[in-house]
Amino acid sequence: MSQNYETLLLNGDEAVSQAVQLLQQGECVALPTETVYGLAANAANAPAVDKIFAAKGRPKNHPLIVHIPDVSHLEKWAADIPATAYALAEQFWPGPLTLLLKKAPHVDDVVTGGLDTIALRVPAHPLFLSVLAQLDSGLAAPSANRYKQLSPTIAEQVSKGLKGRIAAVLDGGPCAHGLESTILDLVSERPRILRAGPITKQQLDVALGCDVEMPKQHVEVVPGNVKAHYQPITPARLVTTEQLVADMAELQGQNVCLLLWSEQAIAQAKATGLTASQWREMPREAALYGQQLYVTLYQVDQLDVANILVELPPQSDDWRAINDRLSRAASY
Ligand code: TXA
Ligand code: MG
Repeated sequence: MSQNYETLLLNGDEAVSQAVQLLQQGECVALPTETVYGLAANAANAPAVDKIFAAKGRPKNHPLIVHIPDVSHLEKWAADIPATAYALAEQFWPGPLTLLLKKAPHVDDVVTGGLDTIALRVPAHPLFLSVLAQLDSGLAAPSANRYKQLSPTIAEQVSKGLKGRIAAVLDGGPCAHGLESTILDLVSERPRILRAGPITKQQLDVALGCDVEMPKQHVEVVPGNVKAHYQPITPARLVTTEQLVADMAELQGQNVCLLLWSEQAIAQAKATGLTASQWREMPREAALYGQQLYVTLYQVDQLDVANILVELPPQSDDWRAINDRLSRAASY
């Protein structure tokens, strides 16, 4: 079992080489990406990848994303690669786009959950890229959280969930995007988004010159892509601006925390005299909101409130990934 590790917190000049060494020894190390922290293990070392599942408590049939140093590694992991994959890699890698392709024959079932496809991306975080460049291999890495909990976007949040269960956490500061990568299926007949993320449908439509399929909510095509993910421990509920404004006076006496973004709701919170711990101001811009979402839910989870009420964000394309995660984090 992957218990009773000291779980080193790596930072400073030696951090990358220490992480590389542990990964070469077949250990799991949490690494920062531009989306969320990932729990990495050498994808060519099946027993090492096994440790990811043990540390997270993740069911064994849930496939993992393999992170590669650059596009030249694509053929090492995938087969029958379409030209569109190279075009997208050229435009979006390193970056928060994961491509689903047919897997190369040698790839171990532990990585793909026994599927004949593989999810691949080149992450954009400089520390993760340094680790990959030194290893010159692929790293399997799901988000560095215990199964079903929130994806971590700061090193502290990783430690909180996985301390004692993994060899080390490499601290790379807060993640730039704060939401998991967009997953694009290039194996299906028409390119199809399996998970909304920082790269939007509109960007992919333009890049591919076609109408990319976008399910209303990301579909459960494989085990692991389930609705009950991305949840804080405190029950969260999505509420419209109108409803929140109408209920604000009543909420004042309750043990709740409100995540507000609109001027209207924020003005009402102030006018009603909600205490500082009863509400949080969220950014009004989608990219910034996304960056703050998980870390805010994580922090509010420590407050011991009975409920988190989240003001329903705008519904436009650039807010899609946020609305997708919120619809999972909260009931409505
Ligand atoms: O931004 C991200 O993608 C982060 C960072 C660490 O790179 N990773 C991440 O991994 O979110 P994870 O395991 O938490 O989510 C990966 C998703 C899962 O829902 C999994 O089912 C899906 O990708 N996936 C992986 N391989 C797949 C495959 N062969 N077919 C379909 N879905 C796959
Ligand atoms: Mg995850």
